[in-house]
Amino acid sequence: KDGMNVALLGLGTVGKGVYKVMKTQRPEMPQKLNTVLNLKKILVRHPEAHVKDVDDPSILTSDYSQIVDDPDIDIVIELIGGIEPACTYIRDALEAGKSVVTANKDLIAERGGELMEIAEENHAELRFEASVAGGIPIISPLKNSLSANEISEVMGIVNGTTNFILSKMTDEGMDYEQALREATALGYAEADPTADVEGYDAARKMAIMASIAFHSRVTFRDVYTEGITKITAQDIAYAKTLGWVIKLIGLATNGKEGIEVRVHPMLIPQAHPIATVKGSYNAVYVRGDAVGDVMFYGRGAGEMPTASAVMGDVFSVARHTVYHSQGTTRDNVYRKIPIRRIEN
Ligand code: HSE
Repeated sequence: KDGMNVALLGLGTVGKGVYKVMKTQRPEMPQKLNTVLNLKKILVRHPEAHVKDVDDPSILTSDYSQIVDDPDIDIVIELIGGIEPACTYIRDALEAGKSVVTANKDLIAERGGELMEIAEENHAELRFEASVAGGIPIISPLKNSLSANEISEVMGIVNGTTNFILSKMTDEGMDYEQALREATALGYAEADPTADVEGYDAARKMAIMASIAFHSRVTFRDVYTEGITKITAQDIAYAKTLGWVIKLIGLATNGKEGIEVRVHPMLIPQAHPIATVKGSYNAVYVRGDAVGDVMFYGRGAGEMPTASAVMGDVFSVARHTVYHSQGTTRDNVYRKIPIRRIEN
């Protein structure tokens, strides 16, 4: 067959971003991947409602069996969110030997361990970079480049919606409700923003990172969680007069007493680098025994940043597959771009 076939489950904010990147990157794929990726099916609840969203409406389906029972589909991208039916869809895809890429933090935080075992048993890959901190690469660094460290701490701002709300309240004096409405309109908030403002979304991301960083299984229920709903304009103003800002911080530590993971609002000195993380941006700090402190910073929510993380995983799975079937990968040097030397 020609290239690899991909199916997309869900065509919401991130799904639309993934659709765009699939299209704009298509001419680059032969060089970058040694293969091309064809988007063969998109699963949506109501295909007729999405005709305007795609070039070829015949790829829309509301029937998952057309995807899971199709031996030509190699990679399934799950962007439905929530536990069910996403969990069943992913399990069935893995059991059919398909690799799965997901942005589903609810599911990975709760059932990630189980799904990773199913993936292993079926020699399929399960990737979830987009489940934590949107566009910031953090799962792959924890699993790869930092894996020779003993990691003692992972700390950061991992929810774009609450960071956006707190930034707007602090810098523009905007009220909570209006800031939340804007975050929703910009596509940062979850379908039900309760998960954002109560800290559950951040808690899930911290559970995922702690599990990987500490080679353990930390679930959502292990995380102490407090959101931002009780923060008032007065709290923010008072903090400001004292030279502090209020941020929703996630902190995971692995010390003598064991692992501890928490998410709650914290007072941060205005001069601290984390105080300067504004709007939908996220930041994650990792402390390793060999590397010391490493900081990751970038856009933690929204259509295109999250699509970047999803498609990075898809490309990586495609490269692995090509490597295993052809025994070689491209070295990625394929553009003839003039290199200008700056004379001093
Ligand atoms: N609702 C999430 C956030 C989206 O605001 O960070 C990215 O996971």
